[in-house]
Amino acid sequence: MNVLTVTFNPALDLTVQAPSWHPGQVNVAAAAQTDAGGKGVNVAALLADWTRQSGEPLQVSASGFLGTGNAGPFEALFRERGIQDAFVRVAGETRLGLKIVDPEAGSTTDFNLPGVQVSAAQLDGLLGQLRDLAGTQDAAVLAGSLPPGVPAETYARVVAALRQSGVPFVAADTSGEALRRLLAAPTLPHLLKPNIHELEVALGRELPTDADRLAAARELLERGAEWVALSLGEEGAWLVWAGGAVKAVPPQVDVVSTVGAGDAMVAGLVSARLAGLGPAEALSRATAFAAGNITRLGAQLPPHDELMALHRQVRLQKGC
Ligand SMILES: Nc1ncnc2c1ncn2[C@@H]1O[C@H](COP(=O)(O)OP(=O)(O)OP(=O)(O)O)[C@@H](O)[C@H]1O
Ligand SMILES: [Mg+2]
Repeated sequence: MNVLTVTFNPALDLTVQAPSWHPGQVNVAAAAQTDAGGKGVNVAALLADWTRQSGEPLQVSASGFLGTGNAGPFEALFRERGIQDAFVRVAGETRLGLKIVDPEAGSTTDFNLPGVQVSAAQLDGLLGQLRDLAGTQDAAVLAGSLPPGVPAETYARVVAALRQSGVPFVAADTSGEALRRLLAAPTLPHLLKPNIHELEVALGRELPTDADRLAAARELLERGAEWVALSLGEEGAWLVWAGGAVKAVPPQVDVVSTVGAGDAMVAGLVSARLAGLGPAEALSRATAFAAGNITRLGAQLPPHDELMALHRQVRLQKGC
């Protein structure tokens, strides 16, 4: 099975461990580490981890834009995990993403920089490449923000192109204006995974109750989505499909970094779909991926036994 991830705006993530830090003060940091990241890169890394530990045969390719100035850590990650490097290179440096993790408070504070400028010609180059790759993919995942120079309607445009090319499962995980435009477009992806805040902003209304949330997800199903995963942080996530809705409550885990919890959820859902699992089983797997990823720095799954133990602790509740 071939999976393509697209990260328009990857980031070199600098994670600083700073127990009990306070803004506006001099703080002592315990450790720092740099990881090649960005949402689609994380999904690719987690899918590659999964294929190694489960034996489910996935060939993962990663595309998007990468600055030539600091591509080394990305290329090393792709080599290490056996990911096909399909990134279009652009002049300049891929942005730095700063994450400050407070293990005492169990919190992560993110600073996201804007990213390298992309020209219209470079965007056309990427879109052409995606069209060429689409014919051989069993799934495609578009994830993350858009860099300067890439118009907000790009998600809607690429999702439509991939679905028209016949990619059997197209997933999208973005926010802000890109998500708003995608949700308003005539062609939705098969899978959407907003968190509750992102969905509220994109729809322009608050969704305080389960009934509001399920109704909002069902509007997206009516317009062509197949699975809507609505994540709620440590409270869990809903998965809504034409046949029903299920909520998964994650086990309690020791939080090392919540960076990439959503990406792990997307990787779990996509791998489950490709393995032919139904929505409830898929959400259960995805919740274990997310909880497991939280116990690690960077995008990585825990060893198989630990992941399976988490999977057994996920609680599923039926929605109405
Ligand atoms: N503290 C936690 N403990 C256990 N599981 C968690 C915790 N936080 C998040 N999760 C799991 O991760 C899933 C995704 O989390 P969340 O809703 O925060 O995604 P997100 O906001 O999209 O994250 P990201 O920053 O990666 O985009 C949740 O549905 C839940 O299953
Ligand atoms: Mg997210």
